[in-house]
Amino acid sequence: PEFFSEESPTQKLGDVLKDDLKSVRHLKPMLSLENSYNIEDLNRFDKRIKDSLPDSANIEYAVELKYDGSSIAVVYENDVLVRGATRGNGLEGDDITENTKVIIGIPLQVNFSSLGIKKIEVRGEVVINLKVFEQLNIDREKENLKLREKGIKELELFKNPRNTAAGSLRMKDVEEVKKRGLEAIIYQVGYAEDHQGNEITDQIRNQHIDYIQLLSNLGFNTGINVIEKLDNMNSISEYCLEWQDKRDSYPIDIDGMVIKLNSIIYQSMLGKTAHHPKWAIAYKFKALQAKSILRKVDYQVGRTGAITPVAKIDPVQLMGVEISSISLHNEDFIRDKDIQLGDTVIVERAGDVIPYIVGPEMEERDGHQQPIYFPENCP
Ligand code: IVH
Repeated sequence: PEFFSEESPTQKLGDVLKDDLKSVRHLKPMLSLENSYNIEDLNRFDKRIKDSLPDSANIEYAVELKYDGSSIAVVYENDVLVRGATRGNGLEGDDITENTKVIIGIPLQVNFSSLGIKKIEVRGEVVINLKVFEQLNIDREKENLKLREKGIKELELFKNPRNTAAGSLRMKDVEEVKKRGLEAIIYQVGYAEDHQGNEITDQIRNQHIDYIQLLSNLGFNTGINVIEKLDNMNSISEYCLEWQDKRDSYPIDIDGMVIKLNSIIYQSMLGKTAHHPKWAIAYKFKALQAKSILRKVDYQVGRTGAITPVAKIDPVQLMGVEISSISLHNEDFIRDKDIQLGDTVIVERAGDVIPYIVGPEMEERDGHQQPIYFPENCP
C-alpha cells in the first residue's frame, strides 16, 4: 500500500476508462441463457423439464430466434418510456435512455395502463439489419475519401453488426446514434407492477407467446412471426436445423435458437439459477469457420528447444469458445499457406476442438500485409 500511486495504470483499467454513463439497477436481474450445441443437449433439457413438472403437464415450447446483438431493458412508467439500459453485469447496466428513444421498434408511449400496468420493464436485443450495416460502411468509405483529401486520419470501418450496435448504444451523440439504424426485437417482460405497487410480471398472460403477441400489438418490434409453438423434440430440432440452414439469407444476424417453456406458471415452477432460467435453453448454431485478422506472431520455445509460431488474432467465437491464439506449427506451414501479418484468416475448429488456420483470404489483401520473418536465432 505504501507504493500506491494515482498514476498507476492499475487505476485506469476496465470500466473506469471506458465510460462515464450513469449506472442503473435493473428492476430484476437480467439473466443469461444456458447454452447447448446439439440435439442431445436439447433432449436432456426436455427430460429435465418433464421430470420437474407433474405427469399431467401439457408441455409446449416456444421456439424463437436468438438474435446476435446487444441486450437492452426498457422501462415505462404511466405509459411513457422513462429509461433504457444496457445489460451490464446483469444487475446494473448503463443508462442509455436518450439513445433508446431513437431505436426502431421501441415506442415512446404505450398504452400499458389499459392492462392495469403502471410500471413495466421490457427486454430485447438491439441489432442492425445487414443491409443497413452494409450501407453504414459504404457511407463511411465516402466519408473517408473526404478525410483523406484533407489529410485527416480516416475512420475505421465497422467490423460487424453486433459490435456496431453495442458501440452505438453507448454513444453520446443521439443524432449519430439515429443514423446507425438500430432496431430492437423485444423478447421478454422482465418486470411489471400494477397501480397498487404489486408485482404482476407473471400475471399478464398465461403463455410466453401471448406476451410476445401482446407486445407486438402494443407497437413493439418482436419476432412473433418466426416464433413456433412446438410440443415435441423432433419438430423442435427440425425447426432449429431449418434455421441453421437459412440463417445466411435472413436480414439479421442470428447465432442460434432459444427454446422456452411456453407456460408461464410452469416457468415459475422451474425457477432459475443465479445465471439462467431453468425453463429456457439456447441452441447455438455451429460456427465451424470464422474469419479474423492476424495481428502478430509469437514464438514459443518448447521443452526440446523447438520453436512454435503462434498466431495472435482478433478474438472470434467458434462454437461458443473465444479464440485469439492459434498454433501455426512451423515455418513451412506459414510459407505453404502464404500467411502474412494483417491477413484476414479463416479459422476452423478441427474435430470441433483445436483451432486451426485454414489459410488467408487472398481477396482481402489490400497492400497493408507484411511477410512473417521467422526468427533466425532462438528468441
Ligand atoms: S431470453 C431469461 N430470447 O441472448 C432469458 N434472449 O445468451 C433471457 N438473446 O442476454 C434471455 N435472442 O440478450 C432471450 N429470443 C431471445 C434472445 C435472447 C437473443 C440474447 C439475450 C441474452 C443472451 C443470452
